Amino acid sequence: MRSWILSAIVAASSAAADNTLDWGVAYGKAHSALSTLTQDEKVAIVTGVGWNKGPCVGNTAAVSSIKYPQLCLQDGPLGARYATSVNAFVPGIQVAATWDRALLRQRGQFMGEEFKGLGIHVLLGPVSGPFGKVPHGGRNWEGFGPDPYLQGIAMAETIEGIQSTGVQANAKHYILNEQELNRETISSNVDDRTMHELYLWPFADSVHANVASVMCSYNKINSTWVCENDNALNKLLKKELGFQGYVMTDWNAQHSTVASAVSGLDMTMPGSDFDGGSIYWGSKLTAALNAGQLVKDRLDDMVRRILAAWYLLGQDGEYPAINLKANVQGNHKTNVRATARDGIVLLKNEGNILPLKKPTKLGLVGSAAVVNPQGMNSCTDQGCNTGALGMGWGSGTASYPYFSAPADAIKTRAQTDGTQISLSASDSTSSVSSAVSGADAAIVFVTSDSGEGYITVENNVGDRNNLDPWHNGNDLVKAVAAASDNVIVVVHSVGPVILETILAQPNVKAIVWAGLPSQENGNALVDVLYGDTNPNGKLPYTIAKSANDYGTSPSKTDDNFKEGLYVDYRKFDHDGIEPRYEFGYGLSYTNFTYSDIFVDGRPVSGPATGEIISGGPADLWETIITVTATIKNTGGVKGAEVAQLYVGYPESASTPPKQLRGFEKLVLDADASDIVAFNIKRRDISVWDTASQAWTVPKGTFTFFVGSSSRDIRLNGTLEAV
Ligand code: BGC
Repeated sequence: MRSWILSAIVAASSAAADNTLDWGVAYGKAHSALSTLTQDEKVAIVTGVGWNKGPCVGNTAAVSSIKYPQLCLQDGPLGARYATSVNAFVPGIQVAATWDRALLRQRGQFMGEEFKGLGIHVLLGPVSGPFGKVPHGGRNWEGFGPDPYLQGIAMAETIEGIQSTGVQANAKHYILNEQELNRETISSNVDDRTMHELYLWPFADSVHANVASVMCSYNKINSTWVCENDNALNKLLKKELGFQGYVMTDWNAQHSTVASAVSGLDMTMPGSDFDGGSIYWGSKLTAALNAGQLVKDRLDDMVRRILAAWYLLGQDGEYPAINLKANVQGNHKTNVRATARDGIVLLKNEGNILPLKKPTKLGLVGSAAVVNPQGMNSCTDQGCNTGALGMGWGSGTASYPYFSAPADAIKTRAQTDGTQISLSASDSTSSVSSAVSGADAAIVFVTSDSGEGYITVENNVGDRNNLDPWHNGNDLVKAVAAASDNVIVVVHSVGPVILETILAQPNVKAIVWAGLPSQENGNALVDVLYGDTNPNGKLPYTIAKSANDYGTSPSKTDDNFKEGLYVDYRKFDHDGIEPRYEFGYGLSYTNFTYSDIFVDGRPVSGPATGEIISGGPADLWETIITVTATIKNTGGVKGAEVAQLYVGYPESASTPPKQLRGFEKLVLDADASDIVAFNIKRRDISVWDTASQAWTVPKGTFTFFVGSSSRDIRLNGTLEAV
């Protein structure tokens, strides 16, 4: 492995976010509009009209004098909830597994186009809280996996995609809302450094991407509700990150009138509790203002922020009327297919059993091979795990316009080869042998599901009770492996599943980690099983050998975040725990070789001191190091590789051994090679120094690891920060 320390200074990239939204202009307009409003109109702009009192899950009152509409805020992060003819895009965790910036952005854009077509002003997503520190966490699948860098890129691409269409995005849930158990009472107590380096990080990317709004979460931090937490809202979000948009509550996450207002809350949702009762703003806010308990400037600031976001996205121009029944699907399902497919991770492929080679007969086993017999949308908010799995459950769901089930898609594809298909669409071990006898290979489907805690599915109150496959999946695989020599296990899951029992069956030759593919479940799987697409997804989390290895589980009491920075692969690396399949892992039908690492830059140690722009100090966002490497496809078939860059900090920084700080996906024909370039920003080599309250580049030697996963490092180079 080679490394160079070059004297050439890397040209610093522009610190400005790469889109055209202009807060300055928006604020100018908001300021003028504000001066014409009465206090009652202002209060109406910051207060939801009440649960179930408008067409959307959140609504505020219109102010006709400034042509301000009844604002429509609607779930959610993967598509328009309660709409009747939209696409159900893949969940965040699936698109994260593609590690594909273009697909992330396109997904955001297509969702934005659908929301705009429905007349929705604010899309309640994307999600980077939960961060995902607890693998059982019920809502992890709504977000992008437990790495701040991958999350940050995913948030920014999604937000820029959404907002490019003129729809306001909403970064949620801010912050430290890591589990469903006791989510509305738990206090999350985290140290300042961990807060910055893990949990706040993706929100910084969101602010840098000019996100219009942020949703404060249900939980407390250090015993104070997030939605009235001065440190979280005023200090971290608005001052330190320079957030210029508005903070809205999660639905009923407000607990006070004045305290929330002075702490930085700007909008309350939905404006009544779910029974239509108690509200803290509206007339109570008016009373507090009139009694002098709250300065009127604060109300003006709330309104200015909300109006500025509305002007920022150009929503004061022509905007479609609200109609959740419009058909806005367009050709957007192409993105669902691509993300469902490219988010599939091939975990095991012994003897190259895959791709399938014109089998004579295939046996399919498992209830997850077919669509829910009661109907693809028969469970409210997808609150069941019956039939093929496409997403978790809760408010972050949408109705499927259609559902491609594995058995149907495989049957269709099999006709091309004249393959006979037999099916046991059941999880009963007794019907296995008839389905797989005489088959060249058996494909068995197992699942694991989770969701939001207001729905309980098979005794899982949102969070998963364990990390085992549901419906006796281990026993089902054992039964199939007893009846067939060539078993392919397909896993549809919200997050890591412990695979040890499955892997202990020698006849299990392949494991296809198909994630949460939404409406394109079967089609995406066929693409990979048959090699029409070379698998190219990588795990956005670690699959451990034992659930205990993660060191975290849902907390019954207040949570002190004792694991600190050591979440997911950061912990496995630090503690020397062997994962089963590590973060960033994924096989291909071809091979890639890595060579010629080149590390270029001259980092200077010390704090970032730039002026505060959206996202924090401007210099934090400058590229100061470039790492390049050559990647060659040496395996004989076309494929795509996600090359990953991890940074090892100087010992004195006390950081996890490796941290993801770059990734690029390269599509390469057989025998082709290309150069991959990673642009490393100042923030990518900074630590949060709690004493000086600044992002600081530590002095000493940095190592830049380039590889195919967090444990398959192929090259490394070093640089000294002077
Ligand atoms: C969820 C939010 C959602 C809101 C409105 C809450 O229960 O936590 O994610 O946007 O409901 O449906």
